[in-house]
Amino acid sequence: MSAITGTDIQQAAQALRNGDLVGIPTETVYGLAANALNPDAVLRIYEAKGRPAFNPLIVHVHDANEFAKYALEVPAIVKELALEFCPGPLTFVLPKKSIVPDIVTGGGETVALRVPGHPLTLKLLAQLDFPLAAPSANPFGYISPVTAMHVAEQLEDKVSYILDGGPCMIGVESTVVMPENGKIVVLRVGGVPIEELERVAGKVELRVNMSSDPKSPGQLKSHYAPRIPLVLGNVQELVAQHAGKKIALLTLGEEQVSGNVVAKEILSPKHDLKEAASNLFAAMRRLDKSDADIIIAQLMPDYGFGLAINDRLFRAQL
Ligand code: TXA
Ligand code: MG
Repeated sequence: MSAITGTDIQQAAQALRNGDLVGIPTETVYGLAANALNPDAVLRIYEAKGRPAFNPLIVHVHDANEFAKYALEVPAIVKELALEFCPGPLTFVLPKKSIVPDIVTGGGETVALRVPGHPLTLKLLAQLDFPLAAPSANPFGYISPVTAMHVAEQLEDKVSYILDGGPCMIGVESTVVMPENGKIVVLRVGGVPIEELERVAGKVELRVNMSSDPKSPGQLKSHYAPRIPLVLGNVQELVAQHAGKKIALLTLGEEQVSGNVVAKEILSPKHDLKEAASNLFAAMRRLDKSDADIIIAQLMPDYGFGLAINDRLFRAQL
């Protein structure tokens, strides 16, 4: 099976109806999609990614009114957040209805639901009479894809079609939240910054797991890992520590360093963290193709999109 990349929604829809896999664009990263209500189709996602089957997938729907089809209850705080952020980079973990196959939720009692903010994928969802289960379209453990080309490079022989929606505007995965006693718990930092969430939901609890909790693959420490070892911290100090090595440098703005820099990526010359997030994964992939011995990444400021960037860079370390 050889993939065809293009913008033909009919072809993508037909492949999905057949139980095949399709690469889909979202505003965050590209997804590897299958019919969420067809366990055989969903199984193929795990096989294509090489991902452990106990890791739950996000179910993508056309609009937030559909949450009630798949969730036992949709609390008021979720409805308020959905009004503000759907479609958009926010995923809700809710108690699941039995219509959602166990393979989608890793056998768990909750389902993750989101409305992706990309016009092509919304048009695709409008044509389908089922929702789409989709993890990020990368082999398990590698950097998430933010262009159709990234998907083709690694999964071309695993998908029937790749819907090309251009480069992803947000560039980091969705923020994952769960309501608990009328409050919001954040399980993964991502495309909706904490400050934005709190504007609507009040104070939220950060429960971002840094361990190897198998229930949260996006939370596994060795995730987003490039081929070349990556270290994160103060760039000047790290360059001094790794003197003599060929260095690939990943920084927010321009940095003058004295080491043997063989490749470099500046995420946002004007130090805009949102722009930096949108450039992150493509920059990491380019650096990973260099002949550097080590990638030295700069720790970002701890607010706004800086939190999501630091989270991804932290997990990319060996
Ligand atoms: O932006 C995104 O969320 C992208 C695009 C394609 O939508 N998808 C994505 O999927 O990042 P994936 O599979 O790479 O990450 C899914 C995240 C993981 O951190 C997982 O633990 C969490 O969602 N998740 C899914 N279902 C869950 C559940 N029932 N309970 C807790 N966390 C869940
Ligand atoms: Mg992922």
